[in-house]
Order: sequence, then structure tokens, then C-alpha cells
Amino acid sequence: MARPSYFDIDLRALEHNVRLTKKRAANKKICAAVKGDAYGHGLIPCAEIIAPHVDSLAVAFCEEASALRQTGDLPRIVVLEGPFDLADARFIADNGLDSVVHSAYQVELLFSARLPARSTIWLKLDSGMHRLGLEDGEITAQLKRLESNNHSNIGLMSHLGDAESVDSAMTQAQLVRWCAAVDKRSLPTSLLNSAAILHGYDTKSDWVRPGIMLYGAADLPTEHEDRLLPVMHFRSAVMALRWINESEVVGYGGRWQASKPTRVATVPVGYADGYPRTARNGTPVLIDGVECPLIGRVSMDMITVDVTALASVEVGSEVELWGSSLAVNTVAQHAGTIGYELLTRLPARCPRRWSR
Ligand SMILES: Cc1ncc(COP(=O)(O)O)c(C=O)c1O
Repeated sequence: MARPSYFDIDLRALEHNVRLTKKRAANKKICAAVKGDAYGHGLIPCAEIIAPHVDSLAVAFCEEASALRQTGDLPRIVVLEGPFDLADARFIADNGLDSVVHSAYQVELLFSARLPARSTIWLKLDSGMHRLGLEDGEITAQLKRLESNNHSNIGLMSHLGDAESVDSAMTQAQLVRWCAAVDKRSLPTSLLNSAAILHGYDTKSDWVRPGIMLYGAADLPTEHEDRLLPVMHFRSAVMALRWINESEVVGYGGRWQASKPTRVATVPVGYADGYPRTARNGTPVLIDGVECPLIGRVSMDMITVDVTALASVEVGSEVELWGSSLAVNTVAQHAGTIGYELLTRLPARCPRRWSR
């Protein structure tokens, strides 16, 4: 008998989300982020679904772009971190990829690699996140450098560090710098990520770069008719049940103590399966569709859940760790992290199953 723990990836939900994203970002070009193994959902199967609907795919670095070449018809591919070295630059040039340039040295690498004219160079503006990007003056200098090399296929891009909060001082300051940089140049522009698309940011961005919303895990409310569907369903089944007396403790370190006789269900998923070890007592776990609290520390291979209130529970009862009825972001909040992290750090030992 196989251990009943799986990540089920619903590719129909992914396609639904891509269509909704196009609707939300009407008249914009779409660059879909498939970096991080398509946010943990599987690069190749997801790219095959997404590609026919979008104008380009975004990966973080060249190895991810190389992995994408296993798929058939692909739109353009943008390497978001650009080349790290000459080998990367040659890979980008030889495959006619598009590249972000966040530092001057990358322009030199791309020239040395003889970047073809059809490849877009996305000059990245540091609009205030101060992680990557060129200052406005450096953008001007690099535009001149590109012009002198007859490379005219250029765009301007930046990234928002707090797009969830439209009114935050950081967002406002970034938008001011972005608009100033955009207004003085006549270049294609790319700024908006999922949160900014969902909020309907009204700023110059010919392209949008959605990621998390494609996978149905954006932590923002959407209109009922525009509901994004979770693509990943982390499922398992109850493997053991027991009653414990008042004052007995559960799990490593006895972190949880029973205040009354308690029925404990053990579920075969642990931190080695991608369930966060930092999940606190009370983190919701769905058993037969009913929300039950996690109790005790998450082990490498198992968790323990209080199912006292669930009379019908039995060995084999269905468990949802996250998915349609329990948002990955809810679990993440209880574990002091974000849905992005939970989705993108799935270990290989817990199988993924793709369905259409
Ligand atoms: C440069 C860049 N653009 C777009 C995205 C997509 O962001 P989101 O997943 O929040 O839509 C990311 C994700 O981190 C990114 O780093």
C-alpha cells in the first residue's frame, strides 16, 4: 500500500486562472512567471498550459530557461536575473532569449555574446526596492551604450516591493520614480505583478508579469465571478487514531497538552514533505472537509491533529493540508511565512500528480 500523501496539480484550474488574468489585464501583454518550477507546480506541465495564452514566460535564471526547452511551442522567454557570466550570456544569445539587465556588467556580457537584434533587453530600474536595478542616470548611460551598439530592442521594467499595499509609502514612492523614468523615454514598459494587477493599478505598464495569481494563491480577495482557483491540492489520509487522557502531551517536546480527553489523528505528512515545521498549534487541517486543529510539533514524516469533534473520523479519512477549501496562505500565516514559500519548496519525496 502506498503512502497516501500527494500534491495534486489541477491544470484546468491553472488554465482558468490564466484566462482570468488575461481578462483582468485586458490590452496588456502578459509575461507569465514560471520561475521556481512554476511556483512549485511543475515547470513543464504548467508551461504547456500557460504558453498558448501569453506573450512570454519569465524564468529567474538560465538553467530554468534551459529546462523549458523540453516543451514544444513556446512564446518568448525572459530571464529575470539576466546573465551571471559569459556562458549565461551566450546561452541567452544563442537561444534568442530576452534578458533583464540590472547592472552595467550584464550589457557588456550580452554584447560579448553577440546578442541578436530580436532579443529584448529589459533595463531594470531600481524604483525603490533596492534589491536589483539601475538608477535613472545609469539607465540613460546604458541606453546610449545600447544605441552605440545598434541594439534597439529595449524595454524598461521594475518590480514593486509592496504591491499588496496600494497606499503604502513604499509603493507610492516607487510609482513616482517609475512614472518619472517612463515619462521621459519612449520605451515599452513592464511593472505590474499579481497584486498590482488584482488591485487594478493605474500606471504605465504595457506588459504585466503575473506569477502567484496564475497558481490561484494570490492573497487578495477577488470578485466571485473572477475567482482564481487554487491549482495545488496537498492531500493525505488519516493513518492512525487514538484517545489520550487529560494532561497527556502530544509529539516532540510535548508541545501540546490535552486539557480534556482528546482524540488524536496522525497524518503521514511532515516537514520532509513540505509541510512547515513552524506551523503552530491550531493550524487548520481539513479532515473529511471539517476544519480540525493541528496539535503538537510537526515531525519529519507526520503531523497530529485534534479530531475530538469529528465523530465520524476513521483511518483513511481524507485530509487536505491546503487546496480548494483551505488556502495555502492560511496555513502559511499559522507558520509565520507566506504561501509563495510553501508552494516553492516542495521536496521530491512527496509525489506530484497532474490532472487536466
Ligand atoms: C521580477 C518579478 N516579476 C514578477 C514576479 C511575479 O510576482 P507575483 O508572483 O507576486 O505575481 C516576480 C516574483 O517574485 C518577480 O520577481
